[in-house]
Amino acid sequence: MREPRPGDAEQVFAGYGARADVLRFLDWPVQVSVEETRRLLSYETHRWLKGVAWVWMLTCRTSGQVIGQIELKPASLPAETSHVMRLGYVLSPTRQGQGLMQEAVEVVLAQAWAVLPHVWRMEAWCDVDNEPSARLLGRAGFVREGLARRALSHPHAAPHPRDAWLYAFTRDQLAASSSAT
Ligand SMILES: CC(C)(COP(=O)(O)OP(=O)(O)OC[C@H]1O[C@@H](n2cnc3c(N)ncnc32)[C@H](O)[C@@H]1OP(=O)(O)O)[C@@H](O)C(=O)NCCC(=O)NCCS
Repeated sequence: MREPRPGDAEQVFAGYGARADVLRFLDWPVQVSVEETRRLLSYETHRWLKGVAWVWMLTCRTSGQVIGQIELKPASLPAETSHVMRLGYVLSPTRQGQGLMQEAVEVVLAQAWAVLPHVWRMEAWCDVDNEPSARLLGRAGFVREGLARRALSHPHAAPHPRDAWLYAFTRDQLAASSSAT
């Protein structure tokens, strides 16, 4: 995993950025050109530098190809005082079904718990019909806390806001799982 770079634009565009089917349960626009993807990647760098969100690109160990991305952002600003972080991710369809995103989620969370002592809650919101994401969150140890009605806007799935599952993983859980091992 590494930071986003402008040179990633072609691979992001082709892999998932221009694909409404992959973005079905995200609120992203479908990217219409590699240039637009490049602008969005620059925006990620800007958000990183401003401390309002952190995005890591997932790359293939052997080829270096970009296969997805994962994001952590504070639920409120400034980040230094937010005790809640929100998680998001997307993986190229050709790399799904191999456990790669679960591995990425676990790495990002382990690092975040270690360097962000003020954070007590990692949160993820998931469209009620996004079963692969719900399974991933369950495997990664997130607890489904409830159903939030009309909470997410997913324009590629439906014109109106949709119901969502709210998932969370807390520092107490982390402490309980480390003391159990
Ligand atoms: C959500 C998303 C990242 C899940 O992708 P995924 O490939 O299912 O997740 P992982 O990379 O963790 O892979 C887990 C799958 O690989 C399988 N797998 C195969 N080998 C594995 C291994 N060695 N280790 C772990 N899992 C393995 C698992 O069984 C699981 O499949 P299952 O859920 O059908 O049982 C993907 O569907 C996606 O990018 N969707 C579009 C964007 C999106 O909706 N984002 C989420 C918004 S909330």
